[in-house]
Amino acid sequence: MARISYVNGRFLPHASASVHVEDRGYQFADGVYEVMAIRGGAPANEALHFARLERSLGALRIAAPMSPRALGLVIRELVRRNRLSDGIVYLQVTRGVAPRDHRFPDHVRPSLVLTARRARPPSPEAVDEGVAVIAIPDIRWGRCDVKAIALLPNALGKQQAWEAGAYEAWQIDDAGMVTEGTSTNAWIVTDAGEVVTHPADHAILDGVTRVRLIEIARAAGITVTQRPFSLEEAKAAPEAFLTSTTAAVLPVVQIDDSLVGAGWPGPVTRRLRDLYLVPAAAGPKE
Ligand code: PDD
Repeated sequence: MARISYVNGRFLPHASASVHVEDRGYQFADGVYEVMAIRGGAPANEALHFARLERSLGALRIAAPMSPRALGLVIRELVRRNRLSDGIVYLQVTRGVAPRDHRFPDHVRPSLVLTARRARPPSPEAVDEGVAVIAIPDIRWGRCDVKAIALLPNALGKQQAWEAGAYEAWQIDDAGMVTEGTSTNAWIVTDAGEVVTHPADHAILDGVTRVRLIEIARAAGITVTQRPFSLEEAKAAPEAFLTSTTAAVLPVVQIDDSLVGAGWPGPVTRRLRDLYLVPAAAGPKE
C-alpha cells in the first residue's frame, strides 16, 4: 500500500510529497514541529501536543495554518489513508515560501506538512536491559522550549552517541547540569526514591511524555521534583531513565564509563514504564 503524506491541503503519494526550494523551513529552519504517537489508530495526548504547537508557533510569530479541530481531522484522515494502527505522525509548520530574506515576509501562508509511519519502538533488549548515554556539552540556543525544526546540535549529538555505541547523548550546560537528551528528556531517581528531572524552563523541551509521566507518578504516590541535577549526581544515582513519544520510558544504565546503580534497570524506572504504558494500552484519555 502506498504511503500517503499531506502537504498544504493535499494528500499525496509520499514519494512525490514536496515543498518549494524557497520554503523558509528549508532555508532558515524557520519552523516548528510535533511528533505524535498513534495508538490503536488514534492520536495520543493530542491536546498536549496542540497546546505545545501553539506555544511554539507563538514564540516564532508564525500563524497557525488551521484550527486545532481542523488539524485533528487532517491527522485522522492521514492515519486512515495510511492504515496506521500504531506509529507516529510528524507534523511541521514553517513560516512559508518567500524570496530569501532574513526578515519576515509581509504576506505569506504558513506551510503545513504531515507524514505518518509505523512505530519503531526501542528494541526489547533496550527496554529490558537499559541503554547507555554519553555526556556532551549543550551548545544549543536559549529557547529549547520551542520545538523548532533547527536541530543541528541535536543531530550532531545523536550521531556522536551512535558512533560511541550509545543510545542518546545527555547535554550538559555551563554549570555542569544535565538539561536533556538530543530527542528525549533526562531523569534520575535519588537514594530516597524521589524522581528528579530538569524544570520546564527555556533550557529544555517540555516533553509531552514528561508532562504525562509527572502526573502519573504523582498519582501513584511517587515524589517528583523538577530541579536541575548535575552529571556527577546522575552518575552516582541508583537509577536513571529517559522519556519521549517514541521511547516512552527507557532505563539508562550507563553514563559515559559509569554504570548507573548496578548497571541494570531499577524498580522505580520499571514501575514508571509500566504505569505509563498500561493506560495507553487501554486507550489514551484526553
Ligand atoms: N523528540 N527533548 C527534545 C529535545 C526532543 O526533541 C523531544 C522529542 C523530547 C521529548 O518530548 P516528547 O515527550 O513530547 O516526545 C525532549 C521527538 C520525539 C523527535 O524529535 O523525534
